[in-house]
Amino acid sequence: MAVLEVRGLVGGYGKTPVVHDVHFQAGLSQVVTIVGPNGAGKSTSLKATFGIAARHAGTVLLDGEDVSDLPSHLLAREGLGYVPQVDNVFPSMSVEENLQLGSLFQRGSSAKRRDEVFGLFPDLARARQRRAGQLSGGQRNMLGMARALMSDPKAMLLDEPTAGLSPANVEVVWSQIRRIAELGTSVVVVEQNVARAVEQADWVYVLVAGRNYLDGSPVTLASVDLGSVFLGATHPAATATTDKGDRSED
Ligand SMILES: Nc1ncnc2c1ncn2[C@@H]1O[C@H](COP(=O)(O)OP(=O)(O)OP(=O)(O)O)[C@@H](O)[C@H]1O
Ligand SMILES: [Mg+2]
Repeated sequence: MAVLEVRGLVGGYGKTPVVHDVHFQAGLSQVVTIVGPNGAGKSTSLKATFGIAARHAGTVLLDGEDVSDLPSHLLAREGLGYVPQVDNVFPSMSVEENLQLGSLFQRGSSAKRRDEVFGLFPDLARARQRRAGQLSGGQRNMLGMARALMSDPKAMLLDEPTAGLSPANVEVVWSQIRRIAELGTSVVVVEQNVARAVEQADWVYVLVAGRNYLDGSPVTLASVDLGSVFLGATHPAATATTDKGDRSED
């Protein structure tokens, strides 16, 4: 059973849906990536899953439990984390205060959890008193993830966590994502770099024009010319195929 499963998601802004019948899932300790051209509906799919864009239809299952109708603050309490593409930290607050906000829904000792999270992000531990606005782009993205991790979520949605980072910081962030998954939080990552998305993921989803275009294992996707898929992205996905192959959940 997947830790997070989204099926038949229809969502958008106001009355007009921009994503149609979108599906993706992540198993225990898995990292799955979502790629697609600009405007394909990647961010909207995450937002609708988390209940901050309109959800017209679809099912969201967390550990098999139907959480489709929960508003985002209750989803957070149930164990779903979300880190937006931009504005993912409070710039005028310190690193520690940002983390404190992330622990609002956490049961048990937030100090203990904070130390665990600082253990994962030593760079942030060293900067704990600094205001988030003074951090580098890489550190800010890590702080966004760290804040979401404070509630020890079952699954986490990350929207382009490496956008705008130096190659060295991209590597650091991806190794953190891998560790987060190993420690038991399933991770869904929107990634604009297709090669990286394929290289880093256990499973890759390609969205085009608001719909699933195809998905598959990294090995399968590595042999697909996604570049031309993206260039032809304005055309209907008439020839889309889905790799239903051997999908391991653990
Ligand atoms: N707040 C909004 N209100 C209305 N329409 C929006 C809003 N945000 C996005 N859209 C529209 O929804 C569609 C999907 O956008 P979305 O941001 O989900 O794409 P994306 O795949 O994340 O793109 P990118 O790679 O540029 O981040 C686009 O047509 C976009 O113009
Ligand atoms: Mg986006």
